[in-house]
Amino acid sequence: MNVILLGAPGAGKGTQAEKIIAAYGLAHVSTGDILRKAVADGTLLGLEAKRYMDAGELVPDAVVIGLVESRIAEPDAESGFILDGFPRTEAQAEALDGALSEMGERIDAVVSIDVDPRVIVERLTSRRTCKACKKIHSLIADPPADPGTCDACGGELYQRDDDTEATVRNRLDVYERATAPLIDYYRDKALLHAIDGDRPVDVVFADVRAALGV
Ligand code: AP5
Ligand code: MG
Repeated sequence: MNVILLGAPGAGKGTQAEKIIAAYGLAHVSTGDILRKAVADGTLLGLEAKRYMDAGELVPDAVVIGLVESRIAEPDAESGFILDGFPRTEAQAEALDGALSEMGERIDAVVSIDVDPRVIVERLTSRRTCKACKKIHSLIADPPADPGTCDACGGELYQRDDDTEATVRNRLDVYERATAPLIDYYRDKALLHAIDGDRPVDVVFADVRAALGV
């Protein structure tokens, strides 16, 4: 099964992806995570991507499309993958269609997680991520016992550089302009399942499961 998770920054794509992977073992293809790793490793890709990410702008299509094409060709993606944060533009969606048809693959479902932008600013400024195991935490919805320590593995929690209020607002504008039109793109292909993401994580997950038919 190949799934796309669509949704604004902070809608809960990464949180739901963690749960889908734990339950069904699909490969997690998060362009944001791939780019953040490149930044942390100090590669040329990371140096180029960082200035876009810190400003809340999209990294150029050609760069991201190349990354995803190689990632979905890796062995762990053979039995299915979740695209988290890709595609984000119509050009990316069309490139994905082309790459999948060359591979004899297709997208089975697109889950769009919808959350009011006013909720999102608060969510993202209180998000913390584990440096070691990458688990996503919330200081509001599910606070860790110690605000600096991961409940899952004891690793150090950090705040993403792009989770400042000004950058979050720009990311939301970019989402509305560049990515929200993909909702209609996938509705027209009869692949879209829209889910209210402004409910507790497990309630949202129950709807995700129902949408995926698993
Ligand atoms: P990316 O890493 O994809 O970030 P994003 O889309 O902005 O989304 P986030 O990761 O911020 O949010 P999320 O939906 O995963 O929410 P989460 O589950 O963490 O991209 C970052 C940057 O990389 C982009 O700005 C761009 O520069 C570049 N990039 C990436 N992909 C690209 C592409 N395809 N093309 C071009 N550039 C690209 O949840 C957020 C918080 O809310 C957490 O604290 C969580 O605990 C909490 N939470 C989650 N669900 C709930 C709930 N139901 N109730 C209460 N709290 C909840
Ligand atoms: Mg994410």
